[in-house]
Amino acid sequence: MTTVLVLNGPNLGRLGRRQPEIYGTTTYAELAEQCVAWGAELGLEVEVRQTNWEGAMVDWLNAAADEGIPVVLNAAAWTHYSYAVYDACAQLTAPLVEVHLSDPSARPEEWRHASVVSPHARAVVAGEGVLGYRRALGVIASSLA
Ligand code: DQA
Repeated sequence: MTTVLVLNGPNLGRLGRRQPEIYGTTTYAELAEQCVAWGAELGLEVEVRQTNWEGAMVDWLNAAADEGIPVVLNAAAWTHYSYAVYDACAQLTAPLVEVHLSDPSARPEEWRHASVVSPHARAVVAGEGVLGYRRALGVIASSLA
């Protein structure tokens, strides 16, 4: 089975409690469980991680680059300004899919409209809540088929 990493950036560990009017009521633990189950349906072994530390995210992305592992990435706020995340994504060779629960391009803060991940992503899934992760895994599965 192909291993896929689902990597989540800062504040996403508080999903379900964090601004539920924007991000929904599903908790991070529930999201992680669902991603594993959706992955199994697609024949993928999914590992879900979250960090509030940019260096940890860069280390995970570097390891994914070394090992040729596909990635679903919600870089959260780093999406909008982290050139370290940009450079790490640039090194990936297996498919990368960018995912967001909300649609940052439709939100009022101008700074959310830019993404350092998109230039390297095979697809961007945004504004579909937690179900967006299912679609992102589906994109990975079909790009590997
Ligand atoms: C987010 C959108 C980002 O703008 C924000 O900083 C997040 C979450 C999303 O999933 O909608 O933390 O990536």
